[in-house]
Amino acid sequence: MRALVVLKAFWKFVWVGGNPFAILTAIHTPNEEGKYVIQADGIRLAFTNQGGALANLWINNTYGQEIDIVMGLDNATQYAQYDGALGGALGRYAGLISGASFELNGRRWKTSANGKNGQKPVTINGGKTGWGNIRLDVAVHTKDTLTFFIYDRGANGFPGVSGASLTHTVTPFAWHMSYGSTPMKEAGPLDLSHQVFWNLDGFAENSTRTIEKHKLSLPFSGLRLDIDDDKIPTGDIHGNKKSSGYDFWSGPRPLAVALNHSGDAPPGLDNTFLTSRSQPWAKDHKPVASLESEQSGVKLDFYADQEALQVVTWNNPDGSVPLKKKQGNGTYPMFAGVSLQAQDWTDAINHPEWQRDERIIWGPDRCFIAYSTFRFSVRK
Ligand SMILES: *[C@@H]1O[C@H](CO)[C@@H](O)[C@H](O)[C@H]1NC(C)=O
Ligand SMILES: *[C@@H]1O[C@H](CO)[C@@H](O)[C@H](O)[C@H]1NC(C)=O
Ligand SMILES: *[C@@H]1O[C@H](CO)[C@@H](O)[C@H](O)[C@H]1NC(C)=O
Ligand SMILES: *[C@@H]1O[C@H](CO)[C@@H](O)[C@H](O)[C@H]1NC(C)=O
Ligand SMILES: *[C@@H]1O[C@H](CO)[C@@H](O)[C@H](O)[C@H]1NC(C)=O
Repeated sequence: MRALVVLKAFWKFVWVGGNPFAILTAIHTPNEEGKYVIQADGIRLAFTNQGGALANLWINNTYGQEIDIVMGLDNATQYAQYDGALGGALGRYAGLISGASFELNGRRWKTSANGKNGQKPVTINGGKTGWGNIRLDVAVHTKDTLTFFIYDRGANGFPGVSGASLTHTVTPFAWHMSYGSTPMKEAGPLDLSHQVFWNLDGFAENSTRTIEKHKLSLPFSGLRLDIDDDKIPTGDIHGNKKSSGYDFWSGPRPLAVALNHSGDAPPGLDNTFLTSRSQPWAKDHKPVASLESEQSGVKLDFYADQEALQVVTWNNPDGSVPLKKKQGNGTYPMFAGVSLQAQDWTDAINHPEWQRDERIIWGPDRCFIAYSTFRFSVRK
């Protein structure tokens, strides 16, 4: 009888818009910082369920010192209070929707506008309550696995209902993500990714605390989307000329070449590099991106199955975010980190000429899946 009452209350709760997975979250208690830790030989990761953000990633550098190589905040309370997102899941639609609206099946949909320029509304990474800005439910937490569940019923103006599971697994010196979603009711734009701002020196006292000297290589990215001053795609595609500020295909080059803009271009990177691999390819064949620091001797190779990389540097000059306690004193400076986000071509929903519908429109007839792996090595 009591069980029935509980069950009825549960379904009523779900029916009125509550979260059916909240009960799972209650089973998995986080540590004293409000974080969920997973680890394997050589690496240890801590996540918060606020946006599913990776808050720490520890690895031993070439001197055997343990460093934390991601930007983040010290505890879950700070994440909850932070205005915006600092890392975390990107969904339901990673990247941009220009005009904060799109047309699908003869109907115009308006999505949550969260850009900075009021004159030119845009929806960025899923809108105001995109998945990186809300609390996710914790469905599974073991020594080496963490799964978040999301139940998104048309939030931020998107059509249909989306149930998603975001799984993080670690194996020796590697972090794997498998993100999946089964769209319900009707088709809509869907693209899942993850943001992490890397600094492979871990902000060590004697480092520059920026990624300007980190070397980046994007072997399949000879092309990038053309964007206007508001970083909105024009529809055209650029060739990344050899030795130019966007050439990362010809070999590893310091990020400084791309940050050192001349003229009116906004500082830093926030660009869509296309990943053009010859067929057939498999995710594990070759990394789509590699990033390394001479100083710490740490290198990461990024393997992904999406067809573009959004490369974003930390372009915030105001130094308002403090380093995590163990990273040292002071704040994150301009260009403190760089994020490598495997996702589809940004704003593809408003560029039918690119013919990306099969990659970005998902309905009940197909299951969205994206896999990626960060593999680490340390110079001996
Ligand atoms: C770093 O090295 C120490 C000493 O060998 C070890 O205890 C620690 O687990 C290592 N850290 C990581 C993240 O593997
Ligand atoms: C979280 O960090 C802030 C700032 O360091 C601190 O004031 C607060 O007590 C911490 N909260 C918890 C629960 O650890
Ligand atoms: C940075 O510090 C480590 C140990 O603290 C030291 O071994 C290394 O030589 C230093 N690197 C530079 C470039 O000063
Ligand atoms: C930055 O730009 C200036 C002026 O164009 C140039 O002299 C300098 O070599 C550039 N630095 C790097 C690291 O590319
Ligand atoms: C931070 O500053 C305090 C006071 O100046 C100092 O005692 C401490 O060692 C510093 N911590 C780090 C990690 O640099």
